[in-house]
Amino acid sequence: MAEEPRIDPWGTVEVKDYKRLMEVFGIKPINTILPLLEKAGMKPSAYMRRGIIFGHRDMDRVLEAKIRGEPVAVLTGFMPSGRFHFGHKLTVDQLIYYQNSGFKIFVALADAEAVIVRRIPRREAIRIAVEEYVANMIALGLDPDKTEFYFQTNRGAPYYRLLQLFAGKVTAAEMEAIYGDLTPAKVMAALTQAADILHVELEEYGGYKHVVVPVGADQDPHLRLTRDLADRMGGIISLERPASTYHKMQRGLDGVKMSSSRPDSTIFLTDPLNEAKRKLMKALTGGRATAEEQRRLGGVPESCTVYDMHMYHLMGDEELAKIYRDCRSGAMLCGECKLLAWSKMKDLLERHQQRLEEAREVAWSIVDAPRF
Ligand code: TRP
Ligand code: SF4
Repeated sequence: MAEEPRIDPWGTVEVKDYKRLMEVFGIKPINTILPLLEKAGMKPSAYMRRGIIFGHRDMDRVLEAKIRGEPVAVLTGFMPSGRFHFGHKLTVDQLIYYQNSGFKIFVALADAEAVIVRRIPRREAIRIAVEEYVANMIALGLDPDKTEFYFQTNRGAPYYRLLQLFAGKVTAAEMEAIYGDLTPAKVMAALTQAADILHVELEEYGGYKHVVVPVGADQDPHLRLTRDLADRMGGIISLERPASTYHKMQRGLDGVKMSSSRPDSTIFLTDPLNEAKRKLMKALTGGRATAEEQRRLGGVPESCTVYDMHMYHLMGDEELAKIYRDCRSGAMLCGECKLLAWSKMKDLLERHQQRLEEAREVAWSIVDAPRF
């Protein structure tokens, strides 16, 4: 039998084979929750309809709880290691979707992880968390009054109590099987992430027993660890396993992983318009070598990063279907298609950047920034 694929959540390798991931780790296809979603009074989001959110664990349990009228929550976290870009927007859009459906939202600012694993200077991690992450999330439409943002290094005794007790519930061999080579920083970051996910079940933080964690597939190792830890805390405190949904991470504009450390691989929501346009116009497409060839053979949207932008962020269902057809048939060439993307993106960025100044002020006023 082939070896289990190991995902390194701190590595740079992309998850490509989503089907295998689902088979090996028991992630269910997202369409299995559609009937319950409807019963819960929610419509499938565009990301679900488009297969970008492709799988889940235990989401059915959370939706059933919601249907019974029990409180439900979403928790996710962001590592403040660079500027906020379109890849992050994908997760924030999901938070807004759940917020509008009545879920309580928690956002962990993973400053501990950024500093100890990514070696981001301490002050810088705090500043980035507030000015880049919190501010951009608010400007995108996440309601600050209904969202609890917190720093991993500034959360309070019951949260740290969990973290300490978790350390006694997992062996080094188990952690190595999940993460590969360990360092104290990685052990600490993984247990901290488990505390992020599970602490909202504690009475001190609202006692939310039905929590869903929307993440990119690369974060699944953390969820597997967290589920085991929840099971093993019995006798001390009863914790439910978290549910999770998994999305395909948007590829970078160069076809490789989106990363703030390679500024041309993505568009930051704070990029000046000319800069954003420059990046979009030179993005890797699925077009052919010559216009003649493209008219004859059509393009390949599946391998086009501009199509990804259309699909993840810019277009409604009908517009998207038309772009797909016109690309495939050769009716539209890449230059035209990029300008179409740009016309939408320009509006989006303009509106966003107008809101950002105020959002920055709000951001500093609502977070409890650690002193050092
Ligand atoms: N490790 C995540 C990342 O690299 C950030 C994170 C911290 C997180 N705590 C979390 C994600 C809890 C989901 C849930 O981006
Ligand atoms: Fe991509 Fe558009 Fe070109 Fe098709 S026409 S390959 S979707 S840029």
